[in-house]
Amino acid sequence: MTLRDQHVLITGGSSGIGLELGRQAAAAGARVSLIARDPAKLAAARAAIRASAPDAAEVVTVSADVALETEILSALQAAEKIHGPVDVLITSAGIARPGYFEDVPVSVFERTMAVNFFGTLYPVKAVVPAMRQRGRGAVVLISSGAGLVGLFGYTPYAPSKFALRGLAEALRAELKSTGVNVTIVYPPDTDTPQLAEENLTKPVETKALTAGGGLWTAEAVARITLAAVQRGRFTVTPGFQLTALAWLQSVFAPVLHWNFDRIARKARRNAAGGQ
Ligand SMILES: NC(=O)c1ccc[n+]([C@@H]2O[C@H](COP(=O)([O-])OP(=O)(O)OC[C@H]3O[C@@H](n4cnc5c(N)ncnc54)[C@H](OP(=O)(O)O)[C@@H]3O)[C@@H](O)[C@H]2O)c1
Repeated sequence: MTLRDQHVLITGGSSGIGLELGRQAAAAGARVSLIARDPAKLAAARAAIRASAPDAAEVVTVSADVALETEILSALQAAEKIHGPVDVLITSAGIARPGYFEDVPVSVFERTMAVNFFGTLYPVKAVVPAMRQRGRGAVVLISSGAGLVGLFGYTPYAPSKFALRGLAEALRAELKSTGVNVTIVYPPDTDTPQLAEENLTKPVETKALTAGGGLWTAEAVARITLAAVQRGRFTVTPGFQLTALAWLQSVFAPVLHWNFDRIARKARRNAAGGQ
């Protein structure tokens, strides 16, 4: 599929990876809608997209909390009123609050699941029937490397991103041969406001574990994602490390766990020694 003249709706489109996806989709000729909560960030995102793609169609922005089904449904309706039925849904809205399991209150687990999983499910559930009826469309879920392997410090986040993998795999099977394509993206550490906020509460072990993966730009993650969506690919794993992990995770899980434990132990020892 091509993005030209398609209605591409992005949740979490006011910042980071979502904003970059919106910018690149608009530059490719798509009609872009962005959903997020903060109206000021949405207005700034619209201005940034319009500045980088002045010939693109108007960027529609709607403020909604994806964790609230009624809000996200009205937001979708508002966007579809202007840009028509959603052709490509990208669910990028997400939160991450890393920390030691015992220090993180249950409310954080609940909120993370509400935003990352249910905040993805609601819009997907809303757009798939119409896509199916039209016999075309694409649903793109933004998971995480932490959706492939459970990392130290991510006990609230990893399950919410694993849940997206389960949803994507089951949905892909059901939508096969309907013309509606499903894609799931597992981004590595990407330089965005979310990552900066995560770094404030990341345990030292988590920092050590993620240090070796390098830092991606939102521009590169978005570019790889949109290329994969246009080719109808199911799994998107930017970079060699996550590609190898996606292929080999279950086979090498015991070795991976041994290595992760070793890095975490060393980081803890260094942190204790450094105090
Ligand atoms: N950055 C990374 O290293 C990384 C790595 C792997 C996966 N990811 C995933 O990639 C996605 C995008 O992350 P990012 O790093 O680009 O984050 P970001 O820059 O913080 O952007 C997050 C976006 O989601 C919106 N959002 C958050 N909670 C929301 C809610 N309840 N309802 C509606 N919108 C909400 C934010 O706007 P408002 O706050 O105004 O609502 C913002 O537009 C997330 O799903 C994240 O888990 C990120």
